[in-house]
Amino acid sequence: MSRKPLIAGNWKMHLSVAQAVELARGLAAEADKHQDREVMLAPAFIALDAVHKAISDSKTFLAAQNVAWAEEGAFTGEVSAPMLRDVGVAMAIIGHSERRQIFGEDDAMINRRIHGALAGGIIPVFCIGETLEQREAEQTFKVLEGQLSAGLADCTAEMVARMVIAYEPVWAIGTGKTASKEQAQEVHGYIRQLLLQKYEKKVAEAVRIVYGGSVKPDNVDALMAQADIDGALVGGAALKFESFARIINFK
Ligand code: PGA
Repeated sequence: MSRKPLIAGNWKMHLSVAQAVELARGLAAEADKHQDREVMLAPAFIALDAVHKAISDSKTFLAAQNVAWAEEGAFTGEVSAPMLRDVGVAMAIIGHSERRQIFGEDDAMINRRIHGALAGGIIPVFCIGETLEQREAEQTFKVLEGQLSAGLADCTAEMVARMVIAYEPVWAIGTGKTASKEQAQEVHGYIRQLLLQKYEKKVAEAVRIVYGGSVKPDNVDALMAQADIDGALVGGAALKFESFARIINFK
């Protein structure tokens, strides 16, 4: 199977522009040592332009942490796909659990954002994941099925084939509790099975499903060795050169 692993860093609301530029430069150089994997960095909106200029000669993909559904208009606080493209953005994280939980974004809004991204030529990194409560109530598969179908509503197979899906169990984000490699593989396998049912085999096999939630230098190798784990979406450990470089250099 020829899915190229994607190691993605989500810097959330951290780092000054100067710090983001410096870290991006170092990481992009590290990433360029590899042909067999891709690296994505998602700085805060204000750092996108400067980071783009700093790494535009590298293969590292620049990503935004969200994207509006409309191209332009009266949407205070939002940034559209064409605006992001203008500063070199190739991908956007959509539906992150912090957007869902803290900012009240629901499945319908996330679906609109996915369409807005694709229409503007931005690759969505579409995040889904269950809470601890849902996992304990054995609702994990049901919740993920719901988030996946609602988020991908009205997307053609061709559109889905261009996306990245991130499985991020909410209970593992920023908590230091990683899903075990078995737990993560089980869910990734299930997501791929859903894609197979909804779309054609080609799509299910092409879509990268990355894992997020306390990925660290000491657990990345085991996670990446799983058949259906095609990468990592990393928060805390992406903020330091040493730890994210080690994750990029997973074995
Ligand atoms: P974490 O965050 O690596 O700090 O758990 C992951 C994420 O929110 O994408």
